[in-house]
Amino acid sequence: MNLVMRHLIASRLITDLDGRSGRPLPEWDDELLLGADTGTATVALSDPTPPVHSLADVLRQRRAQRFYSSTPIQTGDLHAVCAAAAKDRSIGVLVAVRNVEGVTPGLHLYRDDTGSLTCLKEVPVDSREREGWFLQLEFTASPAVIVISGSIGAASLSGGSHGYRRLLVNGGAAAYRSWLTACRRGLVGSMFAGLLQPALREAIGVDGWDTAGLIGFSLGYPPDLPESD
Ligand SMILES: Cc1cc2nc3c(=O)[nH]c(=O)nc-3n(C[C@H](O)[C@H](O)[C@H](O)COP(=O)(O)O)c2cc1C
Repeated sequence: MNLVMRHLIASRLITDLDGRSGRPLPEWDDELLLGADTGTATVALSDPTPPVHSLADVLRQRRAQRFYSSTPIQTGDLHAVCAAAAKDRSIGVLVAVRNVEGVTPGLHLYRDDTGSLTCLKEVPVDSREREGWFLQLEFTASPAVIVISGSIGAASLSGGSHGYRRLLVNGGAAAYRSWLTACRRGLVGSMFAGLLQPALREAIGVDGWDTAGLIGFSLGYPPDLPESD
């Protein structure tokens, strides 16, 4: 069985498991993070870029990468990656921006309805605060990190422990969609568990219950090759 078939069967299994539990999970609500004391600067992203590599090639060649080029991420590429993550309505998408074309470094909320990023907090590129968000410094140094988010509270209250498990499965699937979407556009990245929730709470009020980071996905273009003699 080829790789694409295996991928499709795995996706189908997840959908079937999800369908058996009856009602859908509650939708993620952007408003929970858009309090009066957060910034409101919004940047419209360019239209999502189309893929340049086939899914079959990407499934064969993907490898997790934690180090990246210094080239800023183009907003059309970032848009495609964020939209892939947000396809599931139970999932919210935060973006820790370090080096994205035309976007202020800081923590942003991706708005799927308008294809834009709303700045929740500006944070300078080289700051101690930034180092507190992730367990590994290489993720702090990456051009962008997608923080796949969800409401553990809403999922648990609506579906109990099964609702909680479904939210985690949805988060993992969203991270995987982001990774494949990024790779198909010539980006590389790595998903990771090391989000430091207390720092995100302090920065933008992600409280670990109504809003929680589920898994991270760091991304950028492949590292520049050293010049040969
Ligand atoms: C749920 C999950 C959490 C992970 N967390 C981390 C992490 O915190 N830090 C890390 O360096 N790699 C983490 N990884 C591992 C990388 O994403 C990747 O799977 C691993 O480096 C294998 O790389 P490969 O694709 O080249 O085989 C995690 C993977 C998964 C699936």
